[in-house]
Amino acid sequence: MSKRFYITTAIDYVNGQPHLGHGYEKVVTDVIARTRRSLGEDAFFLTGLDEHGQKVQQAAQKENRTPQAYCDELAADYRAFATTLNLTIDDFVRTTEPRHKAVVQAILAKLHSAGYFYKAEYRGFYSPKEETFLTEKDRRPDGTFDPSYGEVVELVERNYYFKLKDQQQWLLDYIEAHPDFIQPEYRRNEVLGFLKNNTLEDLCITRPAARLKWGIPLPFDPAYVTWVWFDALVNYITIPAAHGDPVVLEALPDLRAKFETQNSNLELWPADSHVIGKDILKFHAVYWPIMLKAMGLPLPRQLLVHGWWQKDGAKISKSTGNVVEPLKVIGEWGVDAFRYYVVRELDIGPDGNWTDAGFAARYQAELANGLGNLVNRSLSMLKRYRQGIVPKRSDELAPNAAASFTAAVENLKASRLQSALGDIWTLVTRANQYVDQTAPFKLAKDPAQSARLDEVLYNLVETCRVLAVLLWPYIPQTSERIFTQLGLASKPDHLADAAWGRLAAGHSIGDPAPLFPRKDLAAKPA
Ligand code: MSP
Repeated sequence: MSKRFYITTAIDYVNGQPHLGHGYEKVVTDVIARTRRSLGEDAFFLTGLDEHGQKVQQAAQKENRTPQAYCDELAADYRAFATTLNLTIDDFVRTTEPRHKAVVQAILAKLHSAGYFYKAEYRGFYSPKEETFLTEKDRRPDGTFDPSYGEVVELVERNYYFKLKDQQQWLLDYIEAHPDFIQPEYRRNEVLGFLKNNTLEDLCITRPAARLKWGIPLPFDPAYVTWVWFDALVNYITIPAAHGDPVVLEALPDLRAKFETQNSNLELWPADSHVIGKDILKFHAVYWPIMLKAMGLPLPRQLLVHGWWQKDGAKISKSTGNVVEPLKVIGEWGVDAFRYYVVRELDIGPDGNWTDAGFAARYQAELANGLGNLVNRSLSMLKRYRQGIVPKRSDELAPNAAASFTAAVENLKASRLQSALGDIWTLVTRANQYVDQTAPFKLAKDPAQSARLDEVLYNLVETCRVLAVLLWPYIPQTSERIFTQLGLASKPDHLADAAWGRLAAGHSIGDPAPLFPRKDLAAKPA
């Protein structure tokens, strides 16, 4: 067995329903996972939930439920969300699962006996909302703390700390030596700047159980639970361990008895890509590598850092009601319209802005009038003029298809999803222009133009087939519908099948049906 392409999303806090940010990150990750599979690689896609910590404990308390009952109900919603988004996930991790607890505890025990931790008293400020300790450095010039910390309290507390003093230089050297480790480049520079200009403080990795019960107990001191970030980051290792990954089990041999199997051990670690938002970069680029090195495990190959969505130019916020509800949008416009819009609108890196009008405009212009119209009129004309029978091969649009394919694959391999979509759309636009230039409806009226009409029709339906293959990672349901309408029994899930000329003369297509029904432009997504 060989190593799989292992890709993850952040695991979401279960303190509310899934929102646009969660949906975006998952779609981006799914497009990359599907691309890898379509290129012939074995990929493994992990997502899941971050269920411990004060926020969840408080949210449960508010509803008078136990934290576990509260999490179980929301976990069902998040799993359903993954299905609705048509994600090709291979596992779904919850940090309250016994398999995850076992891995966190094995890691804590290993690092504790290796002398990475010490116990000390902390006196200072604490933000319960952010579950974080604050120092004088965190004060603003007027002496107050940023409102995002909520109410800040003074605290005296004994806790376990992870020594970070000796870790700064190797991490800095590593990031300098591995330019692809943090993408995009400006996020990498942010981390380098942080490491060059600050001294890492030792990391508090526990909370007293007397104050916070909802966490994983330390295996060597049950009076403490694990700090939620130490717990959460480990999820990326839990799943390889649970699937018997030999690299992970070698570093954590105590887990062998629990997870090793005779013949189904998957090779996953190191992760090829952790897809995360910009707000959690420090945890992934600083603490996670340090934890991994201490465990004796290689670092992930890449952190792919995306920006944040706003709506109508303002922060998305439940309290102000400025939200986008992905499930409502999908209910009204279809899952592929949602998948398409988020990737087309926002490149991986900068912040983006959702507007209902922008969504509706892209739907109408690009999906309904662009792709949908091309496929519908191409197939309808083949039905009408040739009884749905594919004519002999013609290569007029072959160079356009090849150019889009080459450019898109190069961009897809580098996870430049928005650019690759642009490359594919060049072919959509070219083919629609080809219909206008060749005017097959006129050719059909002139029997002397019959051979020319055959050529045009072949070029159009073959372009539709190529587009279905190229678009499958992005809008899989639509691609599969195009294949069904083309009368093809196979799936459009192999990029190699985008090579021109696979549609055989004499093949009989199925029935065309609109892919993206036109909507009244005044209609808005919910
Ligand atoms: N539980 C932590 C992650 C632990 S990973 C080991 C967490 N959860 S979260 O629910 O707050 O966020 C999950 C992901 O969604 C993060 O990558 C975050 O950046 C992303 N987003 C949350 N809001 C977002 C937007 N408005 N826009 C885009 N992504 C955003 O952080």
